Parts: sequence; structure tokens; C-alpha cells
Amino acid sequence: MYKSSIIFLFLFGANLAREGADLFSCLNDDIHIKKTSWNESMHSDVEANVRLARIWTSARPMRFELTVFTQLTSDRHEALSNLCMSFRGPVSAAVHVSIVQPESIPGLSNDSIEALVRAEAIFADVFERAELLHGCQLTIMLFYEIFDSHLSSLLYPINAMRNFARMPVKTELVSAIDVDMVISRSLSTHLLDPMFRNWLKVETVKRRAFVLPAFEPGCPGMSSRTVTMLASLVNKSQLMGLYHQGSVTQFKGHVFPPGHGPTNYEKWMCANETYKVSWQGNYEPWFISHWDVLPWFDVRYKGFGQNKISFLANVNQSGFSFEPLPDIWLTHLYHRATESSDLVKNNQMNIGSDVLRGNDMKMKVEALYRSQRIEMMQGTYVPKLDSRMLKCFEKLHWLQPLEPSTRKTVHQPLLQSTCPCKHSKYDHFSLHV
Ligand SMILES: *[C@@H]1O[C@H](CO)[C@@H](O)[C@H](O)[C@H]1NC(C)=O
Ligand SMILES: *[C@@H]1O[C@H](CO)[C@@H](O)[C@H](O)[C@H]1NC(C)=O
Ligand SMILES: *[C@@H]1O[C@H](CO)[C@@H](O)[C@H](O)[C@H]1NC(C)=O
Ligand SMILES: *[C@@H]1O[C@H](CO)[C@@H](O)[C@H](O)[C@H]1NC(C)=O
Ligand SMILES: *[C@@H]1O[C@H](CO)[C@@H](O)[C@H](O)[C@H]1NC(C)=O
Repeated sequence: MYKSSIIFLFLFGANLAREGADLFSCLNDDIHIKKTSWNESMHSDVEANVRLARIWTSARPMRFELTVFTQLTSDRHEALSNLCMSFRGPVSAAVHVSIVQPESIPGLSNDSIEALVRAEAIFADVFERAELLHGCQLTIMLFYEIFDSHLSSLLYPINAMRNFARMPVKTELVSAIDVDMVISRSLSTHLLDPMFRNWLKVETVKRRAFVLPAFEPGCPGMSSRTVTMLASLVNKSQLMGLYHQGSVTQFKGHVFPPGHGPTNYEKWMCANETYKVSWQGNYEPWFISHWDVLPWFDVRYKGFGQNKISFLANVNQSGFSFEPLPDIWLTHLYHRATESSDLVKNNQMNIGSDVLRGNDMKMKVEALYRSQRIEMMQGTYVPKLDSRMLKCFEKLHWLQPLEPSTRKTVHQPLLQSTCPCKHSKYDHFSLHV
């Protein structure tokens, strides 16, 4: 049987080792790992039956005070490596290894253990390469979950994973970014400037969500990867060139225009300062925010659909303004369809006689979002969080507080000379990258 005692924490430094071990036991102790079943998850909002298998934490000092956090299934390791090479600061990733084990045996089958060991080897490699090549300062939390069938493995606990990835974040500035996005080099360049960092901290805490416009190559396919890498390295005037010649375009602009449309790409191209856009029903931008104000993801959204929209609806309802940053952006990296995305896109094919039940999942998340909207109108909506995570926030005092009012260290006093006011340099963002 796969026991936590045989898991080695790949950690450097006494503090990091202690923190990793803390998190490990806090999340794993007293849990009886069960198999996730479709019926149980559909009929009651059971929490994700995930177990933490391993944590890696970079031994290098954090280069910037902004952490990107993300979640992924284990087959997306390459995307994590790319994300990590495109940002020079800290990245925290929660990885989900899905184990389908219909047999009724206690614990993990030999095949499942093998799958888990394979996933560990892959992410050990991702981590070590990031350390060696001086990529981002990476934290990886590798979780696994046992499902009783292929059908139930559709119930990927996406929002719980996003929250787990946020847990160990040590910086005030945070950004939840999907793993298949590549971050423009300009973000790392700007963050070298202490004035910019201070400005971000001061302004994000006022609930200004600084939107990172998202692009994708004009033509899909493997060759588009070159375009993505190029688009992340060039300066904005060169990006404008790529945009006007059609080499890059609004992310999902053809298949789902409202997802990023409100960012207003035409305006952004000529913008040299932030500007406000209003949130509309299906707007789902990525943005930079502050730990103390950023809402958490509602863990009841599992599987696919509504998980990000419902989050953004809550961000909007919590009084955030959405303001694209004039010269920092994301570009989508094309990837071959993976097993899990196939499963979702072709779920009717793969789950055979369970087509109707596949639709049940869609109906469930839609019903969830409808009731969330009613609660938001009544002012009673609170995202549901994982109880094990809540317990860890009570127990582990080195985590940033869930309730910012309990923050022990007061915010650093603002340096008057570097705290830009309304007409500062950063409200009139200069374009050099
Ligand atoms: C799940 O529920 C469906 C109907 O809701 C039922 O037909 C099926 O037998 C149940 N499966 C299990 C494993 O309990
Ligand atoms: C699982 O592996 C162990 C040793 O690694 C072996 O003794 C056992 O027979 C295996 N079980 C099955 C069902 O193959
Ligand atoms: C966005 O939030 C505001 C309150 O902050 C609310 O009045 C408005 O209706 C929301 N927009 C949408 C489209 O729900
Ligand atoms: C920003 O652009 C506007 C016009 O597009 C121009 O008038 C202004 O001088 C620019 N500001 C800076 C700081 O470059
Ligand atoms: C962008 O980069 C190109 C090529 O390096 C350079 O010629 C151009 O001046 C740069 N533009 C700005 C606005 O810095």
C-alpha cells in the first residue's frame, strides 16, 4: 500500500522543511481517503477526496513580491515548465493526479502506485529543471484522488485545487493564471522596479483588479508555439505589429468573444495607461490582485463549466474595478489534446451510456451558479471552502491569514516618494519594455 511514510519531502532549509511537513500533515492527517463516486458527488457537495502526495519548494529566494498560482492535471507538466520559464518570480502549482480504480481493494492497486510514482518522477524533474535553469521559484503540491470510474473522474475539483495552490503563497500580490498561458517578459521587467511593486500593492488592495489581456496565435497547431514564445518576448509595439498582421489575436475571440471582449483590444493596443472596463456576464480575464482582498474560489464547482465565471461574478460583486495594464499580457500556448480534455470535449463518446449523466454535471454547475447569483443579489453569498484547508489556516500561523484583519505584520508604511498618486508614472504607464 502507498503510505505517506515512504514519501520524501524534497525540501531545502530547516524552515522550508518544517513548513512543508506542516502542510503535509495538516492536509493529510485524520483524513480517511475514500474513492470519489459520481452519485455521491452529484447528490451532495462532498469535498474533494484528495490527498497530498508530495511537496517541492524552491530553495531560492523569491525574486518578486508577486506569486502566480495555478492548478493542473498531471498530464500538463510541460505547460507548467513553460509558465515557469516565462515568469521570474514565485509560482505555486497544485497538481492533481487522477487515479481510476474500480476494483474494491483497500488502498491503492499496484498499477495506481505505479502511476503515482511516475507522476512524482515527472514533477520532480519539472521542479529540478526550474531550479537549475533559474526559472520561477516553484512550489509544487502534488495531490492524488481515487475515482471509482472514468465517469467520476470527470469531477475534477478545479476550484479546490486553485485554493490549495494559493495556500502557501507568501506574497501580498497574487495572480491566478491558467497553466497554459505564457506571461509576457514585461511583467518580470516591470517588477524589478520597486516603484511599480509598491504602486501595485497600494492600488490592488483598493480592489483594483489589474487585467492582463490574453492573446492566442492567429493559426492554431504546433507551429503556433513559436508565435506564442515570440509574443511573450517582444515589446508592446512589436506585439501590436503581430496583432495587426493577424499573427496573434484576442484569446478565444472567435469561439467565445465575451470571455475577453470587454478588455477592448483595440483600445488596449494604443493605451499607455490603465483604463476601466466594466464587468459583464461572461467576462473572465486574468488579473493581478492583493491577497487581502482577492476572493477565494468556491469548491462546489467541480468538473467543467462555470467555475471561473462564477468566481469573476463574485469578484465584480465584491466591488472590484477591472483595469487592463497597458503593457503586460498573456499568450496562450497551444497543446495537443490531452486525455483529460478529450474526456471532457468528447465526454459523450467516452462515457458511453452515461451521456445523460454527463449532462447532469453541466446542469449541476449551472444550478449552482443560479443560486450563487441569487445569494449575491441578497448579499449573502460566501464561497464554500474546503474544511481541511480552513483547519490548516487555523493551525499554521505562517500561512497568510484567511481573514486579513488578523494579519500580524502591518503593511509596510508607504514610501511617500514612491507612492504614485493619480498622476503618477504608473497611471500613465510608459511603454518601454
Ligand atoms: C447512481 O445513481 C443512478 C440513478 O440516479 C443509479 O441508477 C445507479 O445505480 C447509481 N450507481 C451507484 C454506483 O450507486
Ligand atoms: C503488488 O506488488 C507486490 C510487490 O511489489 C506483489 O507482492 C503483489 O503480488 C502485487 N499485487 C498484484 C495484485 O499484482
Ligand atoms: C457588478 O457588480 C456591481 C456591484 O459591485 C453590480 O451592481 C453589477 O450589477 C455587477 N455586474 C453584473 C453584470 O452583474
Ligand atoms: C499617452 O497617449 C496619449 C495619446 O494616445 C498621449 O497624448 C500621451 O502623451 C501619452 N502619455 C504618455 C505618458 O506617454
Ligand atoms: C521594440 O523593440 C524593437 C526591436 O528591438 C525596437 O526597435 C523598438 O524601438 C522597441 N520599441 C520600443 C517602444 O521600445
